[in-house]
Amino acid sequence: MNDSKKPLIEIKDLVKRFGNFTALNGVSLDVYPGEVHALLGDNGAGKSTLIKVLAGVHPATSGSIVIDGKEGKFSTPRQATDAGIGTVYQDLALNALTSVTRNFFLGREIKKGPGSFGIMQMNEMDKITIDEMAKIGINISDPTQPVGTMSGGQRQTLAIARAIYFGAKILILDEPTSALGQKTANGSVKNN
Ligand SMILES: Nc1ncnc2c1ncn2[C@@H]1O[C@H](COP(=O)(O)OP(=O)(O)OP(=O)(O)O)[C@@H](O)[C@H]1O
Ligand SMILES: [Mg+2]
Repeated sequence: MNDSKKPLIEIKDLVKRFGNFTALNGVSLDVYPGEVHALLGDNGAGKSTLIKVLAGVHPATSGSIVIDGKEGKFSTPRQATDAGIGTVYQDLALNALTSVTRNFFLGREIKKGPGSFGIMQMNEMDKITIDEMAKIGINISDPTQPVGTMSGGQRQTLAIARAIYFGAKILILDEPTSALGQKTANGSVKNN
């Protein structure tokens, strides 16, 4: 069915060891554009480890990863993000004390003005945050509220909305809907 298309992710014989312990023992997987894969396995089977290797959190021990035709063994999460991999971890990397909007943009703020300084466009950023969250079914009345005041499901939605908005071509979700209501969980699938 997919013969005419090239895979977006090509994983071959991927091995990940933590010291003497082998967490991934030769994983091979191809993912084509538009596909949705669910990885099933017992606790400790290595699902999160595979995700973290793809997201640049852990270096692979051996094997090859090709993302969209390019070398995909990343040594930092930033490299993975730049290559279009958006990852939603179950223990989300959100800063509880800063606002919903600041967490949404986090290092990719909209600024206007000369050079690398510029003035942060808070109103515009607030509006985008509200709109993008609404698209997947969460209505944020106050985007300036600290993330710490949001529920677990709302925080997961924020991380998913952010990955989609910043153009992740590959969205990797590690049990991301475990805290979501069913309506939102269904909605996030439709948007992918
Ligand atoms: N940083 C680490 N250092 C050492 N061992 C680790 C590390 N991360 C994971 N492991 C081990 O690798 C194995 C796979 O863990 P992983 O978190 O990938 O499992 P999982 O399939 O996601 O399980 P779960 O369903 O419980 O989330 C486990 O035995 C775990 O103890
Ligand atoms: Mg896991």
